[in-house]
Amino acid sequence: MKIATVLGTRPEIIKMAPIIDEIARRGIDQIVLHTGQHYDEEMSDAFFRDLEIPAPDYNIHVGSGTHGRQTGLMMKGIEEVLINEKPDIVLVQGDTNAVLAGALVASKLHIAVGHVEAGLRSFDMTMPEELNRRAADVCSSMYFIPTEESAINLLAEGFSRKNLIITGNTVVDACFRHLEIARKKGFSQKSLASLNIEEMDNILTLTMHRAENVDDKRRVTHIIEALKELDYMNIIFPIHPRTKNTLQNFGLFDELNDLGHVHIIKPIGYLDFLQLTSLSTLILTDSGGLQEEAITLDVPALTLRYNTERPETVTAGGNILVGADKDAILKYVKKIVEDEDFAQKMKKAENPYGQGDAAKRTVDAIVDYYDEGLLDIVAPEDIMTSFTRKMMNVEDDITVAEFETDNNALIHMVFDGKKMIFPKDDLNIKGMMITYDERE
Ligand code: UD1
Ligand code: UDP
Repeated sequence: MKIATVLGTRPEIIKMAPIIDEIARRGIDQIVLHTGQHYDEEMSDAFFRDLEIPAPDYNIHVGSGTHGRQTGLMMKGIEEVLINEKPDIVLVQGDTNAVLAGALVASKLHIAVGHVEAGLRSFDMTMPEELNRRAADVCSSMYFIPTEESAINLLAEGFSRKNLIITGNTVVDACFRHLEIARKKGFSQKSLASLNIEEMDNILTLTMHRAENVDDKRRVTHIIEALKELDYMNIIFPIHPRTKNTLQNFGLFDELNDLGHVHIIKPIGYLDFLQLTSLSTLILTDSGGLQEEAITLDVPALTLRYNTERPETVTAGGNILVGADKDAILKYVKKIVEDEDFAQKMKKAENPYGQGDAAKRTVDAIVDYYDEGLLDIVAPEDIMTSFTRKMMNVEDDITVAEFETDNNALIHMVFDGKKMIFPKDDLNIKGMMITYDERE
């Protein structure tokens, strides 16, 4: 078996590293293809080093550009590699342009696509990420889903439960594996070491790069107005290159940089960043990955967005959406710093992203599919199954797995009263309403 991974940005490298590592550990043939969307040393190469994975086998160097140009160049480059390498499955991760390009190209070549971190939805169709992740899900054969909530999104869109595999999120694997290593090493970046972070109180780590925030002068100004008033915090801001560019273009960079309590530094490596996060009183961010890492490392998070495709972090109590609302930002930072009970509740929020074995579960599932011939993409000879979906109220005391065996069926949806729940094998469905397909 040969597995190809397509990645292109900082978070994809971080979240695919545990899977790349797991594939290598099992001696399975693999190639890694970098689209070149992120190319600065501190946005790309540094992560291959910190996470101890080999440099990519291919880099198609698409660089920066408009979405159409970037995605088009990626598709051309990825197609050439896949035609040549003929992998059995192509893995894409998350919601970047690499995911859209990789999934589309591979599925048109009739190569199975495995979408890592599938099923997330912000329901905000103005976000390029929402379009990318939805399109990738349409092209995929295997869905590696972090939580039941995300799996339900896919069920509700009509995806068959058959290929939905709940794995947790590999970000937990990466955090758990690297935090201890990071602590032993100490800070490697000079700017962080010289700031003497360990001695600081009230550290607020800030990251932002979402187009809807940093490309919008009105929104970014509101956020900066809040930062100015947070002079009782030590704000550490490893700045994303996109954000540096836009702040400079808006003429806002110098003003922010001149504030004594705001330390703007270059993006930092993963090991430095993990230490910084774990020493922080709170995280202020619009990053997807950081919302997950904050709850994994028991650090309260305030998210600079009005919606999130990670609602589990909010319902668990570890994350609050403050948007670009100055008053909300000021209110909740103050509350976390001054109200110990409130801060403790946020820190104790249960991590919904699993135990750190997502990579193992992902590779286990790929191996099973390969062994059973399920990675072969062939035209269906019988399309009738899509018309036989049935619905019933279950009266028997029976689990999902028992019902499926007894009836040679596959259950798709389960409703307990008005609430839709994920049909786990051991779920007792007595008194619930189900939809299911009967197999021949
Ligand atoms: C991309 C992803 C986003 C992800 C983020 C992670 C898409 C649509 N967006 O956004 O989902 O959350 O990566 O960080 O795929 N730049 C550099 N050096 C680099 C990379 C970028 O200077 O190495 C600058 C360029 O000016 C570029 C801008 O940053 O135009 C934006 O980069 P781009 O890759 O287009 O989008 P991100 O904002 O990084
Ligand atoms: N990160 C990092 N150094 C930094 C900023 C972030 O290592 O200076 C890591 C962070 O730990 C997280 C990931 O980058 O795992 C998040 O990436 P980003 O915010 O760029 O993308 P998103 O998750 O929003 O797609």
